[in-house]
Amino acid sequence: MNHTHLRQLVLTVLFSLVAKVSMAQQTPSYIPTEENLKARQEFADSKLGIFIHWGIYSMFAQGEWYMTNANIDNKEYAKAASAFYPVNFDAKAWVSAIKAAGAKYICFTSRHHDGFSMWHTAQSDYNIVDATPFGRDVIKELADECHRQGIKLHLYYSHIDWTRDDYPAGRTGRHTGKDMQKADWPSYYGFMNRQITELLTNYGEIGAIWFDGWWDHDQDTVPFDWQLEEQYALIHRLQPACLVGNNHHQTPIEGEDIQIFERDLPGENKAGLSGQDISRLPLETCQTMNGMWGYKIIDQNYKSAETLIRYLVSTSGKGANLLLNVGPQPNGELPAAALERLSAIGEWTSRYGETIYGTTAGDIAAQEWGVTTRKGDRLFVHIFDLDAKELHLPLQGKVKKAFVYDTKQPLKMKRTNEGVTLFFDEVPTGTDYIVELNLRK
Ligand code: GLC
Repeated sequence: MNHTHLRQLVLTVLFSLVAKVSMAQQTPSYIPTEENLKARQEFADSKLGIFIHWGIYSMFAQGEWYMTNANIDNKEYAKAASAFYPVNFDAKAWVSAIKAAGAKYICFTSRHHDGFSMWHTAQSDYNIVDATPFGRDVIKELADECHRQGIKLHLYYSHIDWTRDDYPAGRTGRHTGKDMQKADWPSYYGFMNRQITELLTNYGEIGAIWFDGWWDHDQDTVPFDWQLEEQYALIHRLQPACLVGNNHHQTPIEGEDIQIFERDLPGENKAGLSGQDISRLPLETCQTMNGMWGYKIIDQNYKSAETLIRYLVSTSGKGANLLLNVGPQPNGELPAAALERLSAIGEWTSRYGETIYGTTAGDIAAQEWGVTTRKGDRLFVHIFDLDAKELHLPLQGKVKKAFVYDTKQPLKMKRTNEGVTLFFDEVPTGTDYIVELNLRK
């Protein structure tokens, strides 16, 4: 082999190596399976889920952050477990009320920041079966009931732990009596992964794992490595269709299947946690019914049924799901105020659900008067507040037919260069006055 040939050979080998490396960088390491993609679509179509924040924090009735907000020693706090006896807990009653609201999934707090596990975990005695007189595995009961009634179960899982010494404390839970010297990430990471394995092995199909707490380390000087990709891969190995979401308030990270927004519709940032870009993953906004997630006895400031229904429709108008929270009482009941609202939402979804389920964001972005949702060639115009008997829509050359969704009564329409104007006999009123438009293909 002469010199030129050798050079050529070396160059060829080098070139193919470089190409391989750069391809590896471009190829995403997470490729969702078919069943995962199907689950994403089902999720995106489902529009309404109910969030449940329930744990021993409910007994203090001050919300789920009580332990760290009041700097309570974790050993004192843990004593509440020995009195946790939610006599009226009835998975069937919960799931029935939630299903009747038109929700397609429930997201339940398996373990919140206080570190108490709501299932019979073998990884720690600090759980609902071993540490309470109640002794029942509520996740088992909920999972069985959800499967029976055909509604999906998602599990909230906290990355933070204000009780365990091995969790390296971030900016919260610094005064709950933990021994900071004992922080041991590999030990804690292993603990979490074994717990997640239990949840995805012993309770049948789980629709999603909903992580929370990443932000605990967002002010570290050296970036904290949560080893998320590995943890996400574990989840997808155990249940490929299980959706991974993380309430980190960032744009999604490799391995996530949905994007979560907290207390704001995607693209809005009134609560201050949602400045992140909107990804192409299915979207979900979680929101409280009053002002707290966990049961808070002094917070009776519930949003009205009308406000909640409009919020649900507005979420659909953004192409997202609403995960609406309920904080059950320490006796195991859902608060009456929450039940009333669930039933009002159910009345609405049973009549008008078709205008949100399976839809995407409509052709017209949110307006002062309301929002739009779209399904095939049908565009639903949801009017919340209109002070006039006419409404102009910038849908030039697109509209074939317009009618009132409820009565099917055709609406007078004038086509202009900019779109169409609809004319009503009376100013539209009600929670959501829906007009259906049939569009040209
Ligand atoms: C926040 C809170 C947490 C709650 C969650 C729900 O992250 O810290 O308590 O569970 O929001 O979205």
